[in-house]
Amino acid sequence: MKIDTFKVEEWFNKYEKDAVYDLADTCVEPFSINELLEFTQCKDCSEIFNRKLNYGAIHGSERLKKAISSLYKNQGSQNITITHGAIGANQLVMLTLIEPKDKVVSIVPTYQQHYSIPKSFGADVRMFFLKEENNWLPDLDELEQVVGNDTKLICINNPNNPTGAVIPDEMILKIVEIAKKSNAYILADEVYRGLNHSGNPFSISFADAYSRGISTGSMSKVFSLAGLRLGWIVANDDIIDNINHQREYNTISVGILDDYFASIAIENKEKIISRALEKINIGKRILLDWANSEPYVHLISPQGGTTAFVRFESSLSSMDLCKKLQQQTGVMLLPGETLELDKYVRIGYGNNFEKLEKALKIFSAFLHQ
Ligand SMILES: Cc1ncc(COP(=O)(O)O)c(C=O)c1O
Repeated sequence: MKIDTFKVEEWFNKYEKDAVYDLADTCVEPFSINELLEFTQCKDCSEIFNRKLNYGAIHGSERLKKAISSLYKNQGSQNITITHGAIGANQLVMLTLIEPKDKVVSIVPTYQQHYSIPKSFGADVRMFFLKEENNWLPDLDELEQVVGNDTKLICINNPNNPTGAVIPDEMILKIVEIAKKSNAYILADEVYRGLNHSGNPFSISFADAYSRGISTGSMSKVFSLAGLRLGWIVANDDIIDNINHQREYNTISVGILDDYFASIAIENKEKIISRALEKINIGKRILLDWANSEPYVHLISPQGGTTAFVRFESSLSSMDLCKKLQQQTGVMLLPGETLELDKYVRIGYGNNFEKLEKALKIFSAFLHQ
């Protein structure tokens, strides 16, 4: 099966190892296992070291599924299946739902899985571009036109990577109404859900708002535990049964250590999310102060997640700019062209603030050259 190159992942493969200042990263500073156990004051956790390393519970342990259900309004264990990260979750949803010629509307910029996988299955994929002048939120009249009454799947990422836009709850309900007109499924990649910067950190989930809404999430961003490689899918029982039918060929179970540490982290969600938001707010302040004083960049302030999408003024394309910048200075950014939009770069700001501050100054000097 042919599939397009995953441009973001390819960029990381090529440039991350030589980066001195990695501002392409999307994670909040990760925990070590010891830090996690200390931070959550886990008392009986040493028992995990005596567990036999057999396969785990097939669709995830009851403890983990119960913890995940606490992140949603109306979801029980039967509505959840555990996956290899959100990347595995998104792919399983596509494998389950998409047939050749199905119409798929993918809201971009987003994670490339959302359009390249259905395209590789022979689907008719329509890319619906968010615009900076709309604060990176979808224009609902335009979306309604594109979706029409023959769409099988709408793919959406909220909060959005790369822009940091958060779709307000009322707008989520309106998008559901648009989907209902064609009885479309919604794949809502909600890996950053829980990291809204103000108000309730959790937007409503598309899985709670719509019977054909499918939420994917993971430990990577909200819980600062990308190394667990653990994610999930939440949807109504019929959809989950169909997904599990595919999943038998793909997963067996996730690792029992991953399942265990993920359970502990989610059971301590308030503490872990507060830590993440504290770090994000420090990084965001540094980023906004820089953007406000730098005449060659324009930034719509991110409202959620860990990334910002910065427009720059230069004759260079985003790829050429990022290549030159990294070659000359060691600062790694992610070019907007890997996300289908030139003249932007993505900056992650949840991590390593000294380096962030220094690297932004270096980027400014480069732009002024
Ligand atoms: C929007 C989005 N979806 C999915 C993923 C994959 O996440 P995971 O690490 O859980 O596989 C990422 C990772 O960067 C992401 O940004």
